[in-house]
Amino acid sequence: MLLKKYILTTGAAALVLSSLSLPNAASAQKIPSLKDTFKKDFGIGTAMNNAQIDERDPATTAFIASQFNMATPENIMKSALIHPKWDTYNFEMADKLIVFGKKHNIKINGHTLIWHSQLPSFIRGIKNADSIRTFFTDHIKTVAGRYDGKVLSWDVVNEALNEDGTMRKSVFLQYLGDDFVTEAFRLAQQAAPKTELYYNDYNNEQPAKRAGCMALIKKIKAAGVRIDGVGIQGHWHVGKVPFKDIEESILQYAALGVKVMFTELDIEVLPRNFQGADVGQRMTANAQSNPYPEALPDSVQNQLAADYENLFRLFLKHKDKVTRVTFWGVNDADSWLNNWPIRGRTSYPLLFDRKNQPKPAFEKVIALKN
Ligand code: G3I
Repeated sequence: MLLKKYILTTGAAALVLSSLSLPNAASAQKIPSLKDTFKKDFGIGTAMNNAQIDERDPATTAFIASQFNMATPENIMKSALIHPKWDTYNFEMADKLIVFGKKHNIKINGHTLIWHSQLPSFIRGIKNADSIRTFFTDHIKTVAGRYDGKVLSWDVVNEALNEDGTMRKSVFLQYLGDDFVTEAFRLAQQAAPKTELYYNDYNNEQPAKRAGCMALIKKIKAAGVRIDGVGIQGHWHVGKVPFKDIEESILQYAALGVKVMFTELDIEVLPRNFQGADVGQRMTANAQSNPYPEALPDSVQNQLAADYENLFRLFLKHKDKVTRVTFWGVNDADSWLNNWPIRGRTSYPLLFDRKNQPKPAFEKVIALKN
């Protein structure tokens, strides 16, 4: 299984393998690199899980280093994990990620300082504004301060908006009021002067939510506080990628003077009866909910490839405004979509299959530059 169409190693090891007189060796090629292909256009990132940060599998480490020049921790910098108790922080895995980034020349986007989800359990017991404000302030100062100059950027606030563009009723809105987003950026700016600061959300390419997001960005700027970029997560569905909304969003956000990024890109192929990425929303399994347990049918594979091709064509068209495209996982096996909104499904949302082999979508994306 080592030699299929591509050799699953890089650098010197690949040269050795291709020089061996193994069956198929002559036709084996090195997998083209996404980060090299788009190096003059925008950064190419991936989400990273614990095993990957821990470098438990050398082949995976080499693969990540060969394909990506940016990374976002999928979970380990979220407050529940990095700040598990009122006065206890756990920096072990985040520190490892910084080391990983340095070693492999990968820039890190911190994710995320203020989010209503994956909060430490002690927050549930707090019922007064002063304590929430103390948590909010200490958390941002401590975490953003520790990694200033070590991470490229932070998603300072994540998912503060409802679909209609109004503010989500989170614990932060409830106790700190409408200005909590601006305050989070103000604190981050003080604690991390060398770090780029972003607002990140899903569906914020949709017109109503986009309007709310643009109003937030304007509000932060009007307060004299720095915001460097906006992240459009990009959790879309095959055959339904909203290209027109995406293009309008790139243009409108960029006109506000912020960088535009696609921060959690994946394209779902499994059935779902709602749009977006609200982790609180679940679906009940039925006989149709896991239609492709063995393999993706060609028709869906081709649609997925066409969607990715058109997306990257759009990103390239606006490469002066789009600074980064980050996939939410290295390969299909890593994806959160295998377990959300229904646990234990088999999804195929990324460019690499479960063995890190390029899918037709990868070939289409790479071909745009050849
Ligand atoms: O670590 C525990 C483990 O100890 C336990 O045994 C296991 C049993 O359920 O759960 C593990 O925690 C899971 C964690 O991922 C680590 O794998 C949580 O249950 C699970 O809910 C959590 O899901 C993450 C989700 O955010 C949580 O909100 C996904 O991995 C992660 O991909 C997802 O990422 C979010 C972005 O941060 C923000 N935008 C949406 C995006 C997708 O939901």
